[in-house]
Order: sequence, then C-alpha cells, then structure tokens
Amino acid sequence: MSMLVLTLIFIYNFLVVFQQQAGAVTVVKGSKCDYFQGSWVADKTYPLYNVSSCPFIEREFNCQNNGRPDQLYLHYRWQPHACNLQRFDGRDFLEKMRGKSIMFVGDSLSRNQWNSLVCLIHSAVPSAKYTTSLLGDVATLTFTEYGVKVMRDRNVFLVDLVREKIGNVLILDSVEQSSKLWNGIDVVVFNTWHWWNRRGPTQPWDYIRVGNKVYKDMDRLVAFGIALNTWANWMNTKFDPSKSKAFFQGISPSHYNGTEWGEPKAKTCKGQTQPILGPTYPGGMPPALGVLKKAIAKITRPITLLDITNLSLLRKDGHPSIYGLTGAQGMDCSHWCLAGVPDTWNQIFYNYL
Ligand SMILES: *[C@@H]1O[C@H](CO)[C@@H](O)[C@H](O)[C@H]1NC(C)=O
Ligand SMILES: *[C@@H]1O[C@H](CO)[C@@H](O)[C@H](O)[C@H]1NC(C)=O
Ligand SMILES: *[C@@H]1O[C@H](CO)[C@@H](O)[C@H](O)[C@H]1NC(C)=O
Repeated sequence: MSMLVLTLIFIYNFLVVFQQQAGAVTVVKGSKCDYFQGSWVADKTYPLYNVSSCPFIEREFNCQNNGRPDQLYLHYRWQPHACNLQRFDGRDFLEKMRGKSIMFVGDSLSRNQWNSLVCLIHSAVPSAKYTTSLLGDVATLTFTEYGVKVMRDRNVFLVDLVREKIGNVLILDSVEQSSKLWNGIDVVVFNTWHWWNRRGPTQPWDYIRVGNKVYKDMDRLVAFGIALNTWANWMNTKFDPSKSKAFFQGISPSHYNGTEWGEPKAKTCKGQTQPILGPTYPGGMPPALGVLKKAIAKITRPITLLDITNLSLLRKDGHPSIYGLTGAQGMDCSHWCLAGVPDTWNQIFYNYL
C-alpha cells in the first residue's frame, strides 16, 4: 500500500473518531446504523405532541390526566450512538403511506404503540379528517384525505385460540384463523409475549394442543417458542413481501423488581421519575427475547425486528404505575404512558419506512 493511501485511511479514521467525540455523528457510508444502541438524553423539545389535544388517547395511557404529578419523563429523546434518528414527521408519514394500510397485531402493547402512532400523526395534521370503525377484533382509524388506515388487531398469542368441546384450546401449530386478517395489509407490525405467562382467571385457554397431543399446561417459554416458529413458517410460506412489509415489535420489558436497576427496595416502578442514563441496563435481558430472535432468524423473507427491549429497559420511569387504568388499586409497570416510550418505537419504525 502506498503511503498516500495509508495517510488517507488515517485521516478518515481520525475524522470518524473526531466526529463521534464532537457528537455530530453521521452514518459512515456502507455501515448500517444500529438504531437500538444508544442512550436517552434530555431534550426540551420533547414530547412530540400534547396528549391532551389527541382525541384518540385512551385513558389507560393518559398518565398526566390520571394524576401523575411529575413531568420530567416526558422530556427525553432517544439518541443512537452512531447516527441521528429523523424526527417523526406526521405529514411526511401520511404522504409516504398514502392509500396504504398499517396493522398492529398483538396484545395491549400493540395497542399502546397504535395509540402513540395515531396521536403522533394527529398532532402533525390536527385538521385532517378521519373516521373510526370497530369490526370484531379490528379497530381502524382512517385518515380519509390520505386514505391511510392505521389498524389494530387484538390477537394476544398470534396462533389460533379456538373453542372446542373440551374448552378453549390454544393451538401452537396453527395460525390459520388468525392470519386471515393479515393478508392484503401493506405494513404489519406483529407482537406477542405478555400473555404467555398468564395463569388463573385471566388465562384465556384451558388446554394447549400441538399436533394431536393435548396438554393441560407446559413450560410457557417453550410454548411461546413453538408458536413463534409456527408464525415464522407462515411468514416463509404465506406472507407476500412483494405486497407487504413486516415488522416485529420486539419484547417490551416490565419494571417490577428494583434489584434489576440497583434499587432493591423498589418493588415496583412507582415513584421512578428518571431513566437510567447511559447505554446499559444493570439487570438481565428478558429470556423471551432470545426465543424471539431465534424464531426471527428462521424467517427467509424480509422482516424488521424493532428491537426495543434495551432502550425500553432504561425507562423504568416510563410506566403508568398507579396512574393507569385501575388507578391506585392497580400497579401497571408493563404498559407505557403517552406521550412516552412508544413514541420512540414509532420514530424508529418511521425511520425504517
Ligand atoms: C442490549 O443489551 C445487552 C446487554 O447489555 C447487550 O449484550 C446487547 O448488545 C444490547 N443490544 C442492543 C441492540 O443494544
Ligand atoms: C396541552 O394542551 C392543554 C389543553 O389544550 C393545555 O392546557 C396545556 O397547557 C398544554 N400543555 C403543554 C405542555 O403545552
Ligand atoms: C429480582 O431480581 C433479582 C436479580 O435478578 C432476583 O434475584 C430476585 O429473585 C428478583 N425478585 C423477585 C421478587 O422476582
């Protein structure tokens, strides 16, 4: 190699390092930026919308209205290490999606993200006309001038849950019923996890079936893995990537155990007013994430994992706690206040579209 080339390489490396130190980072050509590695920084220009002006906000996520006294948690922005995220632009989102449908399929965390997205859009175009409809498990909000449909399909397991003679049966190797609603949608954002650990009166199934074997119960993480493989197989054989784009929301973490973040006395997220600053959560990763990543690795068609676990783990301050649906009787450290963390999930989603 000539001296000139070596010198150029040196200068180039120096510039990259210098830029990183200066905080004015641009994506190095040819290297993809990882949106999911970063940290939270204080930013007074956040939140991205005033939730009291959002006509779609569900009471459950409207922490300020439910009496949450602190506001610091509203003013943080996610900053990836290696690049900047484009700020969410609702008008641009509608233009890009003109005539298209977006569907969030999953549990109430999908609803949380759906609710964030429609508030983000509405705040950019508050006068845009819309219609709403509810058909079975599918709620649709249509921004009529743009023909953009933002839908949610409540489906907590992705695989089929059917009523049979013996009771409600969760069929781990079938998505035949569930998937009927997913075809023909332009952008689908899947999610499942939180209901796999339900027991007692809120567990919606009586039996689990795989092939011709019926079980009264089984290891929940194993069941989750089998179901995800069934869904992955559907993705590989029935999903049409020439017509649709697929995302997976990732595993949204809960904060019920302060030992994880170095506060052993904290038994819940109540009273947490600040995120963990810096890039690392002291506690471990939810085991479901490994299972999910294995299943996604088997998918041969394009799909984007919104790998939101780490960035959300840092937000022990982002949950409703007693300012959610059930008020002081409940303790919600699973869902997220809006405005809040799901706005960042949507900002990253927007950066991928
Ligand atoms: C998330 O955190 C874990 C543990 O700190 C780390 O190994 C992993 O690389 C992180 N993933 C991302 C996408 O930042
Ligand atoms: C949000 O809107 C409400 C009602 O329009 C208003 O009272 C409040 O001051 C606004 N909050 C902020 C932070 O702008
Ligand atoms: C909280 O987390 C710590 C560390 O991971 C663990 O040892 C402990 O058993 C957990 N406590 C509960 C109540 O789950």
